[in-house]
Amino acid sequence: MTAERYCEHPWWKSAAIYEIALISFQDSNGDGKGDLAGLISRIDYLKWLGIGAVWLTPIYKSPFRDLGYDISDYCSIDPAFGSLDEFDRLLEALHAEGIRLILDLVPNHTAIDHAWFVESSSSPNSAKADWYIWADAAESGGPPSNWLSRFGGSGWEWCEARRQYYYHSFLVEQPDLNWRNPEVQKAMADVMRFWLDRGVDGFRVDASAVLIKDELLRDNPPNPQAKGKPPPQRQTPVFTDDRKETMNCIEFIREVIDSYPDRLLCGEVQGKTDRIGHFYGDGRPRLHLPLNFALLDAQWQALSLQAAIDAYLNAIPDKAWPVWLIGGHDKQRIASKIGTAQMRVLAMLLMTLPGTPFLYMGDEIGRKRVPIAPDRVRDPFERLVPGYGLCRDPERAPMRWDDSESGGFTTGGPWLPLERGEAPNVAEQQRDDRSLLALFRALIGLRREHACLREGGYAPLRSRDDVLAFKRVAGATEMLVALNTTSEPRKWHWRGRGRVLMSTHLDRPREPLPDAAILLRGNEGVIAFISDDNFGTPNL
Ligand code: NOJ
Repeated sequence: MTAERYCEHPWWKSAAIYEIALISFQDSNGDGKGDLAGLISRIDYLKWLGIGAVWLTPIYKSPFRDLGYDISDYCSIDPAFGSLDEFDRLLEALHAEGIRLILDLVPNHTAIDHAWFVESSSSPNSAKADWYIWADAAESGGPPSNWLSRFGGSGWEWCEARRQYYYHSFLVEQPDLNWRNPEVQKAMADVMRFWLDRGVDGFRVDASAVLIKDELLRDNPPNPQAKGKPPPQRQTPVFTDDRKETMNCIEFIREVIDSYPDRLLCGEVQGKTDRIGHFYGDGRPRLHLPLNFALLDAQWQALSLQAAIDAYLNAIPDKAWPVWLIGGHDKQRIASKIGTAQMRVLAMLLMTLPGTPFLYMGDEIGRKRVPIAPDRVRDPFERLVPGYGLCRDPERAPMRWDDSESGGFTTGGPWLPLERGEAPNVAEQQRDDRSLLALFRALIGLRREHACLREGGYAPLRSRDDVLAFKRVAGATEMLVALNTTSEPRKWHWRGRGRVLMSTHLDRPREPLPDAAILLRGNEGVIAFISDDNFGTPNL
């Protein structure tokens, strides 16, 4: 990868993108659920932190059986969140602070309550008869194929009115749209235009890899690695997931995006790193940013991280822009996995790797998984497939703004509980200029300040002795990043001259680096300028 590779520079290449599950961010009316007005009241915080764009989980009208990913009207705001007027105010207020807004686009499925499904399910002769995936019963009388729902049980549900089955990749109440139908494609393009015309800066496409299913409804084979996995993973979903024709749908969505200037299309792509490259597209562009969770999934250890970073960077096309996520509403909190102290190292890694960094609300304070008692579980997955430790509520618990019982999130009863006892909170960390939050803020600022960190080439170094290391290079400017992935001191051996720019501990003076070795404290990472010809007065 060379520095030249990163010459074009749209906003989303510089922005740190912050995912917000609106229901858990800030409540403004005491109903225990976050809302648009609450988010407006926290824009100052986003600005202070240096966030360049917000991605909102679905805010559309929804019965909310699946965190709003079950939409009953794509072109209205759920009353629990506010109104279209409030949405317009939010967008204006964010833009006034230079913050972009991307929305979740859920093209794969609607709620059963959506007017399209109500009509489609009413009769095989209805005008929208072919808008969902309908099929006759198998000869034996059962479901048309063995396809499973990701949320447990068969993926097929019987509809008496049509005397046919419909397919649902997720909940029974989330029927899959038929993306082979041009009318569906047009309807979804209209939905996108509705929001793009209002000024939203792009979309995160939900479940983008499953838009098309096998036309012959061929049965999925058993998964040879099913042992110990939840029942939905008993099969290898070759005929339902990541079908070649799905890419045409993503290309179609991208064409709509590209008919507006300066918009971003990112997307959830399931599967392994080796598939991620396909989602960028070659001849016809697909996603700008297929979301990459390699840092979350990797073992937290220098050699494994080095390998995961390398595998990902090698898997994406030459001109593709990388992207890194450290959390999300479906993903277990990384602070619970690596511990609070290593969160500092992760923050530095995220903000110094080449590509767009994404963080999920609360990651910046080192939020951990919040224990949820069985009687408070709201995640439909956990209710339907319990006992595998895969409940998503612990990451969806309300934001903790202060140390009060409801965390400054609500004056009412929060829809999901917050943790008891000591837990990181925003107010406390804002007061401490060496907190994790202060570090995230400083790193976002550093990235904004130095083109080398944003656009520079990436040159890996050999990671050794638990220290993950690489350089970023732009012209004569070289930056070294050395990260101690353990809690014990480590020596990083190198030859050259340099000057410290920032330590994860936020306490190192900008002193010259000793030649031959840097002593890294436990949980410490360092960014340094290394530039022989310009040592001391680095070329920015
Ligand atoms: C992907 C979303 O990220 C997840 O939260 C949701 O459950 C499924 N899509 C189904 O809508």
